[in-house]
Amino acid sequence: DFEMTNNQPAVETNFLSENDNGELVSVVVPTFKEAENVPLIVRKIHKVLTESQIPHEIILVDDDSQDGSVEEVEKLQQGGFPAFMIVRKGSRDLSLAVIEGFNRAKGSVLVCMDADLSHPADVIPELVSCIKQDEADFAIGSRYVEGASIEAGWSVFRHLNSKISKSLALPFSNAKDPMSGFFALKKETFLNSAYLNPVGYKIGLELIVKCGCKNIKEIPIFFSDRKYGSSKLSFQEQLKYIQHIKRLFDYKYGDLAKFFQFCIVGATGAVVDLSSYNIFMSFMPIEIARIIAIIIAMTWNFEMNRRFTFSYGKHRHWLKQYFGFVCCCSIGAVVNWSVSMSLSRNFEFWSEQLTLAAAAGILCGTVFNFLLNRFWVYKK
Ligand code: GDD
Repeated sequence: DFEMTNNQPAVETNFLSENDNGELVSVVVPTFKEAENVPLIVRKIHKVLTESQIPHEIILVDDDSQDGSVEEVEKLQQGGFPAFMIVRKGSRDLSLAVIEGFNRAKGSVLVCMDADLSHPADVIPELVSCIKQDEADFAIGSRYVEGASIEAGWSVFRHLNSKISKSLALPFSNAKDPMSGFFALKKETFLNSAYLNPVGYKIGLELIVKCGCKNIKEIPIFFSDRKYGSSKLSFQEQLKYIQHIKRLFDYKYGDLAKFFQFCIVGATGAVVDLSSYNIFMSFMPIEIARIIAIIIAMTWNFEMNRRFTFSYGKHRHWLKQYFGFVCCCSIGAVVNWSVSMSLSRNFEFWSEQLTLAAAAGILCGTVFNFLLNRFWVYKK
């Protein structure tokens, strides 16, 4: 829902002719309240790339920091630095800022890095060469390959957090550091991506998945702590990562991902059911307590599926949808009962394995229930 208004670059120069664009490298730096770092990072990138004779442009994409960053870029421009700033208005988001920068980039190779000097600019030429020489379709400045290191001082929480984030990304990439904010790829690869809809910080992972990058090369870096300003990686951003992972699952695994989410919701429903049953049975007859617990759990499952599993179906009328859900659950229950009964009654093996027959019933009932919900109750 971000509105692309006022995207006039604060400063923009044509310091390279159109013919140079085949060689041009665009370094995109997302910024939010980085006024102190802006001159330092621009000077550093420019120095490294000039020494390596790589024609370049530096695009800072700022989420309306209003902290003097724009003025800093203006000064740099007056000093002849090939940098300009795009100022985004509206809700801020690191990933969307990077996409905005990539869209505006004129170079054939795109690089993304943080503004806070935690990523070593000296590695940019190696990342670029990797992409230009077709050694990889995605090159990462990696904190987790041999030879890489992280400046001492990370809290246990940050290390743990990084490990958990990495594990969640495993179904999508076997890169050691797919969460890195320091990477390079061809503009062509970026333009050929599937629809990008990231939220939060992990734009690298989004691009690996949506651009279908298989050949990933990781170059070890020393990740240093920022000297100025502060990290914006809040707890809220971490929650956005879970939302992002869910989107990637949906993208990569389609209905299988939905079925998985449906089962997880079902499992939470069982917990809600048993907890409510225990509460209500303490002050009312169990027959009634059981009915109330089942209704509560069913309503819980309905709402969870409406909010998460099938969130695209939210536009439909709540009560009508709830009624449909209850119908499906009832049909699912009948399927469950019929399968387990017919197995237990008609087959010798199953008649001795009643629990297994019930489990088979549950599986069939769940699949049936899922299909009805997917294609009827929560249809798009
Ligand atoms: N435009 C824009 N909008 N830029 C942002 C925003 C935003 O909402 N939030 C952060 N940034 C910029 C910062 O100004 C900085 O240049 C860069 O994005 C990284 O932000 P930090 O807040 O410094 O992140 P970090 O150092 O804690 O996190 C680093 O490690 C993560 C993995 O653990 C970054 O490299 C992340 O990209 C990476 O995912």
